[in-house]
Amino acid sequence: MDAIQEVTPEIQKRIKELRQLLQKASYAYYVLDDPIMEDPVYDQLYHELLDLETRFPELITPDSPTQRVGEKPASQFHSVRHNIPLYSLENAFGKDDLVRWEERWRRIAPDVEAFEYVCELKIDGSALALTYENGLLVRGATRGDGIEGEDITQNVKTIYSIPLRLNLENPPPLMEVRGEAFLPLNSFQKINHEREQSGEPLFANPRNAAAGTLRQLDSRIVAKRKLDFFAYTLHIPVAGSHQVEIGDGEVQLDLLANQAEIQSEHIPTPDTQFPVPHTQWDCLELLRAMGFKVNPERKCCSNLQEVQEYCDHWFTERHNLSYMTDGVVVKINSLALQERLGFTQKFPRWAIALKYPAEEAPTVVERINVNVGRTGAVTPLAEMRPVQLAGTTVSRATLHNRDRISELDIRVGDTVIVRKAGEIIPEVVRVLYELRPPGTQPFEMPTHCPECGQPLVKPEDEAVTRCINASCPAILRKGLEHWASRDALDIAGLGEKWVIQLVDHNLVHSIADLYDLTVEQLLTLERMGQKSAQNLVKAIEHSKSQPWPRVLYGLGIRHVGSVNAQTLAEQFPSVEALEQANIEIIASVYGIGNEIAQSVHAWFQNPANQELIHRLRAAGLQLTGQSKPSATQAEQPLAGKTFVITGTLPNLKRDEAKALIQTAGGKVTDSISKKTDYLVVGEEAGSKLAKAQTLGVPQLTEADLLELLGKVVDG
Ligand code: IVH
Repeated sequence: MDAIQEVTPEIQKRIKELRQLLQKASYAYYVLDDPIMEDPVYDQLYHELLDLETRFPELITPDSPTQRVGEKPASQFHSVRHNIPLYSLENAFGKDDLVRWEERWRRIAPDVEAFEYVCELKIDGSALALTYENGLLVRGATRGDGIEGEDITQNVKTIYSIPLRLNLENPPPLMEVRGEAFLPLNSFQKINHEREQSGEPLFANPRNAAAGTLRQLDSRIVAKRKLDFFAYTLHIPVAGSHQVEIGDGEVQLDLLANQAEIQSEHIPTPDTQFPVPHTQWDCLELLRAMGFKVNPERKCCSNLQEVQEYCDHWFTERHNLSYMTDGVVVKINSLALQERLGFTQKFPRWAIALKYPAEEAPTVVERINVNVGRTGAVTPLAEMRPVQLAGTTVSRATLHNRDRISELDIRVGDTVIVRKAGEIIPEVVRVLYELRPPGTQPFEMPTHCPECGQPLVKPEDEAVTRCINASCPAILRKGLEHWASRDALDIAGLGEKWVIQLVDHNLVHSIADLYDLTVEQLLTLERMGQKSAQNLVKAIEHSKSQPWPRVLYGLGIRHVGSVNAQTLAEQFPSVEALEQANIEIIASVYGIGNEIAQSVHAWFQNPANQELIHRLRAAGLQLTGQSKPSATQAEQPLAGKTFVITGTLPNLKRDEAKALIQTAGGKVTDSISKKTDYLVVGEEAGSKLAKAQTLGVPQLTEADLLELLGKVVDG
């Protein structure tokens, strides 16, 4: 049996030191976003503390950093009655609503001359009420119905941006902090990705994911989900009268809805040194000083004009935030004025939420069409009854692909929810099945191309369905538009309108046919005048002087956008050099991966494309350009060396690392042997690492590899 160990003052001191250090480090990391300690150092100190606490469990305190990892699953949550109800906010949907709100509260306080508003982002998460007794977090509760919520203290403790103990010398005996728990977008995506992998249903949005996570009975799962928290209000009880009787004789703690009364008769005794806030702005600053994360985008505004500007700014800028917001909360800054205005049955009179215009709206599907793209990809499109969405009229939405259609089971006649997010084309997010009229039929993807009638194909490993007929008029039209586009051959005047007619009138069957067009032929097109025809012929002629990288881009090879075209054209100074290169050589170009290389190689193998190149050459297009000088021996530091890569590298994709090695003269193979010179090891390395260790093959991290190459990667 182990000898009973005695707690010595040294042990107590060490535990205290460790807690302070760890607390400081996680505050810097999670609240300030400015780490002060390396992860392995933190882990080591954390384990030292855990070890001491295991040996001396009597020394564990509820605010120890070890208390954040979650506990064994609870069987249920207990209901708790809120000390002060959690009110919700009245919604405003535009400037007019704001003006009316200001008029309303000013009628109640007509004598008020000078006032300010504080604008805060409305965080799209789940409200939490946190109770601190003498500075220690004793309870975390959900909003529930505003009167009663659920005690989720164990889950709340896993949120690192919520202090377990307040950073206050003389904390008040009782204090309540409210704010929004939320899931940052990257954590949300990660969770959904994992759920997808394991076949679980996905969370529809970060708000549902945050609410679902907070109500998880197993706090160890909550700890893994990386919830975050912004504090927005602070409530301190009236000094001296901590309990009041409510309704049926129950006793409830009397916390002020805001601190205004503190200034009047209930000023805390001077020796508490507790700073008394007079405004919402002060409260936010005080919350920050106590160790909470407070949203940095808050702003003090002196009139509704400024409020509106703040809202307009965040309406567009919100897409650059790492968390979701669904509007702006406008609050009267003075706590005394807040106190005077009070609450209606449901809302505070001193605050309002200005919601962003809806980016989702219901409408009805009138038709489902399929669109054939430049690469032959067939995309189903819903044609819908026009609907106003985020300031524009939307009447079409992408349905992505066959898989998405069967997942949604969308049918003509269905009422659907369409969403417009940022600059992305609108999409159908949901079908309201309960509104489906009788007699609808499931939508079947066509088996043949709606444009050329040829059979469509669906590669097994891809979600897309394609038309692979090189002379499909739809593919030809899109290809011609791409060829004429600004970043490609930049043929002024050759837009969709003429392209459709050129193809319909059988004047053009290939890009190369453009260079045989005459003014007389063009004059046969509807609404084409002499002058326009002459200008178009001139513009086409002019395109012959466009440089080789633009020509390469204009060919519309899959995966070859303007950047890749530029890169390839620099390495392959002529079309002949590119035609003759094998996949390995193409893939060895820095920035060009295997997938791109395969696509380029396959394109040049196709006889129809070879014929096109032949005709373009005959027409006088620029199929050669300036190459970059090839690497000299001195620039081939890895010549003769063989590498194997395993695991995920911190910065480089596998293809990029491979290309770097190959450009520097090295060889990359798939399997480890005695001939392997180096194994480049990333995270979650597989069996190759074990084999390399057995064979004694030296290992390199990404940083080591870059050092060998003489390159430095940011971050
Ligand atoms: S103040 C009495 N400030 O919005 C005033 N609420 O629709 C209480 N919310 O339940 C709320 N960000 O969950 C306030 N900066 C913010 C907020 C915010 C998000 C949520 C909160 C509330 C809901 C009301």
